[in-house]
Amino acid sequence: MSKILVTSALPYINGVPHLGHMVGCLLPSDIYARFMRMMENEVLYIAGTDEHGTTSEVGALKAGMSIEEYCDMYHQKHAQTYKDFRLSFDCFGRTSSEENKEATYHIFEQLDKNGYIEERTIKQVYSIDDKMFLADRYITGTCPYCGYDKARGDQCENCTKVLEPTDLKDARSSISGSKNLEVRETKHLFLNLPKLQKELEAWVKTKEPFWPDVAYTIAQKWLKEGLQERCITRDLKWGFPVNKPGYEDKVFYVWFDAPIGYIGITKQWEAQNKAERNWKDWWMNPDEVRHVEFMGKDNVPYHSITFPATLLGTKENWTQVDFLKGFSYLTYEGGKFSKSENRGIFAEDAVKEFDADYWRYWLIANAPESSDSAFTWDLFAGAVNKDLNGVLGNFVSRVLKMTSSKLGNIVPEGGENIEVDNQLIATIREKTDNYIKYMELMEFRKAMAELRAIWVEGNNYISVTEPWAVIKTDEQRAKVILRNCINLIRIFAILSAPIMPNVAQKMLDKLGQKLISLKNFGIEKEMTALKGGESFEVGDMLFERISDDKLNELKEKYGSAK
Ligand code: MF3
Ligand code: ZN
Repeated sequence: MSKILVTSALPYINGVPHLGHMVGCLLPSDIYARFMRMMENEVLYIAGTDEHGTTSEVGALKAGMSIEEYCDMYHQKHAQTYKDFRLSFDCFGRTSSEENKEATYHIFEQLDKNGYIEERTIKQVYSIDDKMFLADRYITGTCPYCGYDKARGDQCENCTKVLEPTDLKDARSSISGSKNLEVRETKHLFLNLPKLQKELEAWVKTKEPFWPDVAYTIAQKWLKEGLQERCITRDLKWGFPVNKPGYEDKVFYVWFDAPIGYIGITKQWEAQNKAERNWKDWWMNPDEVRHVEFMGKDNVPYHSITFPATLLGTKENWTQVDFLKGFSYLTYEGGKFSKSENRGIFAEDAVKEFDADYWRYWLIANAPESSDSAFTWDLFAGAVNKDLNGVLGNFVSRVLKMTSSKLGNIVPEGGENIEVDNQLIATIREKTDNYIKYMELMEFRKAMAELRAIWVEGNNYISVTEPWAVIKTDEQRAKVILRNCINLIRIFAILSAPIMPNVAQKMLDKLGQKLISLKNFGIEKEMTALKGGESFEVGDMLFERISDDKLNELKEKYGSAK
């Protein structure tokens, strides 16, 4: 048994997650955590809300709430949605916790002591009416290049030119609209990444055989261009006050304390049961822990460069990332998800329309692994009707109904397998081996293609062996076929469990069986797990077909490509 630490990028607290957030880190991390538990590893799976920064401050202001109320409310919303999606976190914490503050202060002190923190004076726009320094993107004005009058201080959306806030004409605060702005000098702390470059390069080299290409290439590109000093403090109120004399009125930059949040959340997990848990077993234990991180592509530089360098700079023995699984983006009906334009389906609504297992299956089978992937209602309904209802659901109900009506609700007994049965077993063995291999490698689309192919084998077997016809002339032979089919149902349930935990449980319940570990899964053994004589229930259909009417209604409600 090994220790596997599974983390997902911590979602920003402001706003509710849509399917793109779901598929880009949270869902795959859960599927991997569930799978690794079934392989009998000791798994710690954590995530939480990323709470600090200007966007939360502005969000709270707009909502007319205090920042604490605002974050409490959104944290609950996130937690509920992920629970509805059956994400099996050991702890879903918060980057604003006392535990994370403690971890952040400690790491900062170490960096400072080791000479990696620099003081610099920079110029920044101060809004006199808002009584705050404004982040570049919270300044609006007219673009000096194209004349667009809603250009932001960091970039003009219209002509894409990268700007300095001082370039803007007629500059105003995006928060209050006030033009009462001035440029002020302000002192900030910087992390001296150039000084850590050599050490980081050596560390990245040790990861070469393990990191997927995307992550390794991005890290290499950054190293080649040379690392820059990074400002890790901000003139804001919402954040951890900087624990250094002269900086008490500033806070740490959100990207400084967010990844430290993994450690903070593990401390929160420890706090829930001090007697049995120790965060250091996971975070100060690089030789025994394998740390796997899931994230969108845009997060890779932070997780492959900035955060590892931060930990290296402490000169302490931290667990570092061992494998970094990055994802591209999911498009919605040919465009972007957008709450403001009411385009796309958000996770909290998605689970109201369909059970989470439908979404879990579709999203992971279509995960944007090597390039962007597209969500459309037609594709979704196609997969539900064909793969889930047509292949898996029908097989289960057909087998159980047929057995029940011809032979009663008892798994049929007696008889021996013949050639065609042995062929089935050989095919399932091969596909199961592939499925497990791809799941271990986190190649989810390939894993799902194998899983689907395994379900298809069940249908092929029953069409070839025709138990409904055979039973008229050779009841014993029909019994063997149906018993094999019932064992397949159990196998399908076990293999599908990391993806569709509820559907898997329903299947097992019909047979009065329990979920087993996958570690000692052996096809011969599993094909005879139900030996005959056990009782079963037909029960309900596993899935519901999506009708054309329903499909049109969904397109209407959530928007579709016309
Ligand atoms: N909130 C960031 C995003 O959604 C991710 C932060 S990941 C962390 O892009 F590890 F730094 F917390
Ligand atoms: Zn412009």
